[in-house]
Amino acid sequence: MINTLYFTFTDKAIQKKAFDAIVKEQEHIGYYNLPDQDIAPILEYCSTISEAIDTIAVIGIGGSSLGAKAVYEFIRPNKSMKRKLYFFESTDPVNITTLLEKIDLSRTHFLVISKSGSTVETFSVYKYLYALQTDISSFTFITDPGSALENYAHEAGASVLHLPKNVGGRFSVLSTVGLLPLALCGIDIKALLEGAKGLKESFFNDGYMKGILLEKASFYAKHHAQYHINCIFAYSESLKYFCEWYVQLWGESLGKHQRHSAFNVGLTPIGLIGPKDQHSFLQLIMEGTRDKSVTFIKIEDFQDTLTIPNVSLPHMEALDMLNDLPFAKLINMQCDSVIEALHEQNDIPLDTLTLSNISESNIGALIFYYELLTSLVGELIDVNTYDQPGVEAGKVILKKKLSQKM
Ligand code: PA5
Repeated sequence: MINTLYFTFTDKAIQKKAFDAIVKEQEHIGYYNLPDQDIAPILEYCSTISEAIDTIAVIGIGGSSLGAKAVYEFIRPNKSMKRKLYFFESTDPVNITTLLEKIDLSRTHFLVISKSGSTVETFSVYKYLYALQTDISSFTFITDPGSALENYAHEAGASVLHLPKNVGGRFSVLSTVGLLPLALCGIDIKALLEGAKGLKESFFNDGYMKGILLEKASFYAKHHAQYHINCIFAYSESLKYFCEWYVQLWGESLGKHQRHSAFNVGLTPIGLIGPKDQHSFLQLIMEGTRDKSVTFIKIEDFQDTLTIPNVSLPHMEALDMLNDLPFAKLINMQCDSVIEALHEQNDIPLDTLTLSNISESNIGALIFYYELLTSLVGELIDVNTYDQPGVEAGKVILKKKLSQKM
């Protein structure tokens, strides 16, 4: 993965402060260790799931579903999957019914994923599905060791897998939470972790990514009051759900009360997909308030030769320049043109992330890149990157309302 920055921030003292803090943080924040884990137990568990199962359904929300969905939807168009993967992430009754219409309960294995083991969305849907599929062996539970959910599952005779206690929900895609559903569908989780590991080593062992990530994080942190909206502009439909994952990671990690001040801060994530959003949101970036940074994500080789035919349309000969052009080339030309136009504005912080192709190792690297960037920026803007008191507050009020049946 190549990252080109069109801005500079070279204060080495600030960069060192951020780096040292992250090195220290590794002692107690678990996601840093995930690229080095032994995946044998996950693969072994996969082999216990019957070949007759053709669908995996995740019941979970937020950090318990978005990561696996991002990887699956990125890889799916380019690989024939072993099983279909669906996500029950919502209490929207229409959504639940629509998903149920797509699956055959007798050939579906459900993964009930909840770190806390107490999330209303997850367990309302689980109760509904368990009433339809009463065979508990059709369910596997993933949760923190010692949670109430673990006790329930053991008593019900179901299998339970853990995620490490010190890995937060939105940082858990490279743990069992993401790896199990992905491996069950035939995604190469070894390559996924290798991509993340390469990125990790490059950052911690003085490689190419160290300078880049430190420069980008310090720039974002230093200018967080001005450029407080951080857009990803991804030129591939396959990155749509990666953008959703990014929105959660960035928003839930960086929108906080500062640790050592009386004030609230926050960086607002926006996920855009090109070329679609060239015809909508781009206007706001180009001419709107100078409060946005933009990171373009490009795929160098789509491994696809689909080409515009050599057809001349009467009265529309001006468009003959499209003839014989591969779509993969067109989409990247569109991206480059928008970068050039924005660059000419001179006051919009831009950078590009180029992935060589659509592969497990590239999405693994991209995920770890964003996790590290989030940790670095969180450190520099003085927030606790890993908690989510705002999300918790809503959960507590809902539970109160529910107990009063309001
Ligand atoms: O990142 C987070 O902590 C949250 O978004 C959680 O993932 C989300 O609230 C779901 O929680 P749980 O996995 O405990 O059901």
